[in-house]
Amino acid sequence: MNLKKLFIDYFVSKGHVEIPSAPLIPENDPSVLFNTAGMQPLIPYLMGKEHPEGKRLCDYQKCVRLTDLDSIGDKTHHTFFEMLGNWSLGDYFKKESIEYSYEFLTKVLKIPVERLAVTVFAGTDKIPRDEVSASIWKNLGIKEERIAYLGVEDNFWIAGESGPCGGDTEIFYYRGDNIPEKFDPKDDHWVEIWNNVFMEYNKDASGNITELPKKNVDTGMGLERVVAILEGVTDNYATSIWKNIIAKIEELSHKPYKGNETSMRIIADHIRTSVFISADYAGIVPSNTDQGYILRRLIRRAIRHAKKLEIDMESSWLEETAKVVIQEYINYYPEIKDNQTHILEVLKEERIKFNHTLEKGLKEFSKVLAHIKNSTIDAESAFRLYDTYGFPIELTEEMAEEKGLTVDTAGFKEKFKAHQELSRTASAGKFKGGLASTGEKETMYHTATHLLNAALKIVVDKNVHQKGSNITSERMRFDFSCDHKLSDEEKHKVEEIVNNWIKEDLPVTMSTMPKEEALKSGAEAMFIEKYADIVNVYSIGNVSKEICGGPHVTNTGKLGKFRIIKEEASSAGVRRIKAILE
Ligand code: SER
Repeated sequence: MNLKKLFIDYFVSKGHVEIPSAPLIPENDPSVLFNTAGMQPLIPYLMGKEHPEGKRLCDYQKCVRLTDLDSIGDKTHHTFFEMLGNWSLGDYFKKESIEYSYEFLTKVLKIPVERLAVTVFAGTDKIPRDEVSASIWKNLGIKEERIAYLGVEDNFWIAGESGPCGGDTEIFYYRGDNIPEKFDPKDDHWVEIWNNVFMEYNKDASGNITELPKKNVDTGMGLERVVAILEGVTDNYATSIWKNIIAKIEELSHKPYKGNETSMRIIADHIRTSVFISADYAGIVPSNTDQGYILRRLIRRAIRHAKKLEIDMESSWLEETAKVVIQEYINYYPEIKDNQTHILEVLKEERIKFNHTLEKGLKEFSKVLAHIKNSTIDAESAFRLYDTYGFPIELTEEMAEEKGLTVDTAGFKEKFKAHQELSRTASAGKFKGGLASTGEKETMYHTATHLLNAALKIVVDKNVHQKGSNITSERMRFDFSCDHKLSDEEKHKVEEIVNNWIKEDLPVTMSTMPKEEALKSGAEAMFIEKYADIVNVYSIGNVSKEICGGPHVTNTGKLGKFRIIKEEASSAGVRRIKAILE
């Protein structure tokens, strides 16, 4: 059964246009590492912008959620997954949305109604209880005892802290025999399969809720989970989705998958996600920052588990498994097709790199264990494992946990930071021939984006806001809200201001404060981001103040000369500047 096709065909037959999956790495949103939900690329349209394909859309969207990283290894979690979704942008609302879901589940997928239950939004003191959805469900034949009313925690959906949002109704399926009459959302046999969000509000950064110009529908259904249900298994890795991938790992390890092989699941999951991250047109490669670091962690963790399974480390087992993943998805995602060779090269290179140090690192780990105090791996040893043997801290933590030990992670982070500072100083020429510098250029460009943002506010409009950015060691790209093409004069003026600030050698300082305080103090923020409660605020002299994860140079004098090499349209109302530091 091809669930993607059934889903798309059904919604196309109901007047929806199929749109392609957006890239896994968000194009204009540096605040999130990966797309985490089908609705994320559609936020501007949910906020009211006209979508070129119309008001009824459907797709399957690639997503990566890292909150589940620690659960990987169990039978139901994945770092990468596909989300099926249909949207109404100011077109149909609750009635059609619920009726479509019901018809698709019971008529197309032929799921017996006896196995279904739903939750609806219980409301708040400001938003009424969703009796409308409840009565639509009842009219379709869902019994009263199969409807649970839940509050904001469970039935109000928002991506992060602010943006389009609304109450939702979630559909559950009963896995198991002896289906109970009454629905109990706390009973694990009931698994959530589909979420219909009725997006009618916008929540701004200060928490104010206002009505959106249009009432929208955003639905999301986890493909892996539903396939497992349809194929009658409780282990997602036993479905047709994973069959060939697991078979390859069985072949390489000369061991059968019987259902309890955590390492096999970790390898399968991490290689699939690594294939998709390296396939993305953003050109991510393993590194020590951002998406590159996630990719490195995933590959290295997979390698460690392959070693546990006694897979031949000298063979090209990783690429062999990746090739199976590629075959599974090649007909659905053009980037997988276009970047096949690149994906395999990225994986091969990282495998070889880690192979060099893994064996020695494992010996070092055993030595550390022999001298351990208070069941805790000290910061120095954890840092040595990272720096000399390439063990991501999370890998050391996992290995420690397997032995019932912990790691002084806070101490590790301090050492890590001190090392970064040293590297930066080294790269500034103070320790000639000294320590290797990581990401020195990128760090400079990070700071330059803040200066550019501040200069645009002076030259173009004080309401210019950053819409996205993308940094490589070669150049920076910066997207910002602006309704016109910049004139040559405006561009020169921006360059001049930025270069003056560089000449002034302004200090870059960081302070940590509660998010609310940062916003009140007027710090620039990108509102789509799910900011933590405590944030870092970077100030540059008194010309710029932004909530940001960093890293940044310590003084603007280190940036060299700033030059705009291109200014162009990015999307409606958004301009893009490409600039370099010379
Ligand atoms: N945004 C909702 C979710 O991710 C429905 O698509 O669950």
